Order: sequence, then C-alpha cells, then structure tokens
Amino acid sequence: MTLGIDELAGMLSAEGDEMEALLESAGKLKKETIGDGIYLRGLIEYSNICRKDCLYCGIRRSAAVGCYTLSEEEVLECARFAHRNNYGSVVIQGGENQSREHIETIARLVRQIKELSCGGLGITLSLGEQTEETYRRWFEAGAHRYLLRIETSDERLYRSIHPDDSLHSYALRLEALEALKRCGYQVGTGVMIGLPGQGVEDLARDLLFMRDMDIDMCGMGPYVESQQTPLACASGPRLPLEKRYGLSLKMVAALRMLMPDINIAATTALQAIFPQGRLRAIGAGANVIMPNLTPATYRESYFLYDNKPLSFDSKIIENNIRYGEWGDPVHFSKRSGDC
Ligand code: 5AD
Repeated sequence: MTLGIDELAGMLSAEGDEMEALLESAGKLKKETIGDGIYLRGLIEYSNICRKDCLYCGIRRSAAVGCYTLSEEEVLECARFAHRNNYGSVVIQGGENQSREHIETIARLVRQIKELSCGGLGITLSLGEQTEETYRRWFEAGAHRYLLRIETSDERLYRSIHPDDSLHSYALRLEALEALKRCGYQVGTGVMIGLPGQGVEDLARDLLFMRDMDIDMCGMGPYVESQQTPLACASGPRLPLEKRYGLSLKMVAALRMLMPDINIAATTALQAIFPQGRLRAIGAGANVIMPNLTPATYRESYFLYDNKPLSFDSKIIENNIRYGEWGDPVHFSKRSGDC
C-alpha cells in the first residue's frame, strides 16, 4: 500500500480496535525491520536561556523562570554517569543561544565528553537554529546527531504559534535542517501533536514532510499547555488531552509504517499525560528513550510544559534496552551509502 495523505489521515483517525490494530502492526513492523532493541540517550538539559519567544514554550524568552546554565563540570558529570551506566549516547539540549561563548563552550564540552568516554559516547545536540558554521564546528568537535523540530510543517500554523518576526521564520527553520544535513549529521526533527487549529490532515502532511526531508530520527509528542504562555492562555477549542495522547501514538505508528528504518523516540511529553505513555509508544514502533540526567535542582527550571515527569522508570522495558550501543538509525547508513 502506498501511504498518501488520505491513507495517513485515515490511520490517524482510527479509534478503538482499529487503532489498537494499527499500533500493533507498526510495533511488529519495527521488530521485523530493525529489531526490538531500545536505545538510551541520556538527556542533559544544559540551559533554559533562549533567545526565542515561541508562544507555547515554558522556557520562552519572556517566561518568568529563573535562568540557569549547567557548569561544564555538571555536564561532564552527567556524561560520566551515562558512560558508567552504559547508555551509549547523550543528548545536550537547551535553549537557542548564538553567543560566541556558548558556541565555544558547547564545542569544548563535546570534545571533553568524547575524551572522557574514549570516543564511546555518541553525542546528539539539540540547541536550536545556529549558523552552518556553528553546526560544522560542533560536528568537527565530535557531535554526530542533531535534533531540530519543525514543530509543524504547515507554514500558516507555524506562524500562529510563533511571534510574527524574522527571528521566528519558518523558512529559516527549513534552511537550518538542510544545513544540518550538509554538515553530515544524522538529522532528527519532529512536531507537536494536538495544537490548537491542527487537524489530522495537517498531521498527515507532517508525516509526509518527514519522509520528503529524508530524516533519520524523529521526536514528537503531544502539545501540553504550559501555564502562562500565550498559547495556553488563548481562548478557542482544544483537543482533550486523551485525544492528543492517542493521536501521538498513532503518529508514531504511522511514521514507523512510512519510514521503517529510522529512529523514533518515545518522548517525555507522552509520559506527561499518561504514565504508560512511553511504554505504549515503544509498542507502537518507537525505539529510543531519553532518560533525563539533568541534576534534580535544575529540573524545575526546565519545564517546557506542565506535568513534565521528573524521573524515568526503565524497569518494564529493561529487557530490550541495548546498553552500550550507539543505536544509529539504519536509515542513515543507507542514506550515506554505507550499505
Ligand atoms: N508542549 C509540548 N512540547 C513542547 N515543546 C516546547 N513547548 C512544548 C509544549 N508546551 C517542545 C518543542 C521543542 C522541544 C524542545 O520541546 O517541540 O522543540
């Protein structure tokens, strides 16, 4: 079956038994294609300082939260923890900051993490839009994956959830994704699911966007209101949280069908709605989990949205976790001609 917009929108509208069947077959397809291994990425939330003012985000520039940036030693301590516990790789995530100092610090941290793990830890960066030169610098320092969500591939919707200025340009976001590919990164993107004004056809187009971008990784999850942000305060109809949760699981399943060999994360936002969220996403085709390694004292200042879970219970999925492996997406090796 070729998966076009109608088939995908149909999948995203499935309910009840039909939905369960979809999730199950996507889980099965994952097993058959890339196996049932789950890869860990230790998440280090480096800083909540952000120059952007996205209308939905809890760490937007005008949010009233105390600013923090981890010290280099704190980041290295997280990385050592990941290495000792055989995590395979870490993600350094933070607000968008283009200062010279920030760029240098990240490059230094990447090199130090490589050193302390004798090259063992893979490094993913998720630090927003940067110049191609910066992306190249960080790649040369040793980072090999980059996550930059498109948030929504619909330009009109993108505009409705971002301030209307040149700092929040949809075109620049697309260019940044292209620049990342040119630099040689394994590139990940993703969207928020259940945004005000977003329908199943928009989401189906998001899936086709990811396929057309030929991405290697995806992290996507439900939109969850973050108190006091303009989008949370705006009036208008909203999808109930259970619906956003169900849609997110169906998005994971549909993306697995569309791109069987990429890495798909079972994201934290899923867990924020239902405790079983990440586990269900694994069953529906996800193969990556990002346990949070950020020191507890800072976690409250990195509330992207409300009810963000503060810890991770890996016991249930323990059996399938592939410790000590980078878990590169099969898609990337194919894309870059390794096999
Ligand atoms: N709900 C869900 N996800 C959010 N993010 C930011 N704010 C929210 C929210 N309110 C996600 C964005 C961003 C990532 C770091 O966090 O998709 O890319």
